[in-house]
Amino acid sequence: MAKDPVRVLVTGAAGQIGYALVPMIARGVMLGADQPVILHMLDIPPAAEALNGVKMELVDAAFPLLKGVVATTDVVEACQGVNIAVMVGGFPRKEGMERKDVMSKNVSIYKSQASALEAHAAANCKVLVVANPANTNALILKEFAPSIPEKNISCLTRLDHNRALGQVSERLSVQVSDVKNVIIWGNHSSTQYPDVTHATVKTSAGEKAVKELVADDAWLNGEFISTVQQRGAAIIKARKFSSALSAASSACDHIRDWVVGTPEGTWVSMGVYSDGSYDVPAGLIYSFPVTCKNGEWSIVQGLSIDDFSRNKLDKTAEELSEEKALAYSCLI
Ligand code: NAD
Ligand code: LMR
Repeated sequence: MAKDPVRVLVTGAAGQIGYALVPMIARGVMLGADQPVILHMLDIPPAAEALNGVKMELVDAAFPLLKGVVATTDVVEACQGVNIAVMVGGFPRKEGMERKDVMSKNVSIYKSQASALEAHAAANCKVLVVANPANTNALILKEFAPSIPEKNISCLTRLDHNRALGQVSERLSVQVSDVKNVIIWGNHSSTQYPDVTHATVKTSAGEKAVKELVADDAWLNGEFISTVQQRGAAIIKARKFSSALSAASSACDHIRDWVVGTPEGTWVSMGVYSDGSYDVPAGLIYSFPVTCKNGEWSIVQGLSIDDFSRNKLDKTAEELSEEKALAYSCLI
């Protein structure tokens, strides 16, 4: 029997990531090849004509899974009955801008959209915040939508996770699909800590530790970390726009694993509400290693944290605490 359609909201749908993301959703990349979808697309009035153009293209592409399109500049109409909300709308960082520069523009958007989601989304709607500062926007959304369970609000660090997999795969000349269990700790910013302590590669002789195969701690503790931390800025420098296709694809990975579940023995990175695990202060949206089952994520527990890692986990937590304070000061 055919499944009922799932309503997926994409805010900022006329933007770059939106343009890459909506065809992926309509093609089943996010929710599966047998899951019909109804797309809700929100943008602001200056982008209304472009948004309508995206809607026209979705019609023209005749996606079999696409059962309807709502394209609107009305946040209430956009949020009505949505089961999944991918929050991309906001002002992107441009070359030379620090992420903090975009803070004041974006947190007020997330405060007001929190209320619309709380009032009009379906019960148990899952929210993924992509727009920067992603962790802090998600935190503001959580705080101003108190009836949405904190388990349902997350931010995107899967792009950083995928970037880390990509760097290891390039370095070792192995398939990216054979690398697993890297971790992104903390903020989606240049203080994030890409950690390969527990990462492995599938080889013909079984699973081997990335650390053992790379056998170059100077690279792993230096260039590898800074490449992943700075990858967003490098893409902006090269493209003059921030990453879009990789962000859209990683957003699909994030939601798919959250809804469908992570494969046995594999974890992924998600920005989620900290419960104090790994001595990360509670009350931040912080990227942790998580597994997902039955539509719920759980933080992987019991991983060893050496002094090098501890210092990096704390540094990115400190930045998130500062961002939280700054966000609140912008909202006064
Ligand atoms: P973009 O400027 O191309 O698109 C943003 C869209 O949001 C625009 O169409 C704009 O009109 C719309 N918008 C602005 N205010 C809005 C509002 N109040 N409601 C609804 N829509 C609104 O930017 P982009 O390249 O698509 O990037 C979007 C966001 O994603 C940026 O904040 C960027 O920094 C962030 N980003 C995050 C990651 C990540 O991994 N977390 C990766 C890449 C980009
Ligand atoms: C990215 O990681 O590609 C984006 O978040 C870029 C940015 O705005 O920092």
